[in-house]
Amino acid sequence: MYDVPRTAVLILGTGGTIAGVAESPDQHTGYRAAALSVEQLVAAVPALKDYDLETRQVAQVDSKDMSFAIWTELHREISAALKDGQLDGIVVTHGTDTLEETAYFLARTLMTAKPVVLTAAMRPASALSADGPQNLLDAVRVAADPLAAGVRVCVHGEVFPGHAVRKRHPYALNAFTSSRAANATVEVGFYTTPAGLPEPLRFDPDLPWPWVEIVGNHAGQDARTVDALVSAGVRGLVLAATGNGTLSEALLDAVRRAQRSGVEVVVVSRCAEGHIVGQPDHGLPVLGVTAVQARVELLLLIRWKASIARAPA
Ligand code: SIN
Repeated sequence: MYDVPRTAVLILGTGGTIAGVAESPDQHTGYRAAALSVEQLVAAVPALKDYDLETRQVAQVDSKDMSFAIWTELHREISAALKDGQLDGIVVTHGTDTLEETAYFLARTLMTAKPVVLTAAMRPASALSADGPQNLLDAVRVAADPLAAGVRVCVHGEVFPGHAVRKRHPYALNAFTSSRAANATVEVGFYTTPAGLPEPLRFDPDLPWPWVEIVGNHAGQDARTVDALVSAGVRGLVLAATGNGTLSEALLDAVRRAQRSGVEVVVVSRCAEGHIVGQPDHGLPVLGVTAVQARVELLLLIRWKASIARAPA
């Protein structure tokens, strides 16, 4: 008989509802997020004993308070762990509210041939029918599968590419979706390589994070918000455009002025589903991701340009 090596997975905890506790088991709102440690989450799932698990608490926050400092630490921990030849995959437990931003950040900055799987829950760990334990088990199973290589989000039995996932609902258990659909379900286990993802951008943890804001186009939109942001020193603007990428004339004039003063801009659709198809007449760069993910892309792009500018010739 051969000894089959057990799969080794590192689980990094950052808080969220998956680690939340309410006063009573029937309470799904008004609970305290990020109350339980990642060790406690693992202890609640007996089936995880089949894996060689290591756990580390990187942060303990409600993800509405996710910060650049936590992102930098998470990136450092994952980059170091990916160099460990004994490790098969990594799971990150996270709040659902900013999951799509953290997943996008990691997908755009990690060079990984191993699975890095983010998971979360919509109900606190104390709920009668909590979704966190199953999501955690599913995420570890996905992280143990070499076919899942890359940054993924595994929730409610579905697996999404890290760069193309969005929270669509504030309380449904199947709260996540993607403009490109899930690329696997946990049961069926069919994975495809994430489509349309450019090469990761080099991430230099020592560079400052620039100021990037999201500005929407809407009825009555004029130039004042963009002009005020530019005067205050904004470095990047994500324009959440109407429909297939349109902007009011006044907003477009202000955006062109902003570009002339060196502000980076990118356009996404403000529609809840789908993304901009083709190139709108204004000719501004467009991205097929959510507005908050486009903000992460601009943050990384501006940092990347700064890193090139300061590199020795
Ligand atoms: C959070 O994002 O940390 C709280 C909400 C959630 O996880 O569903």
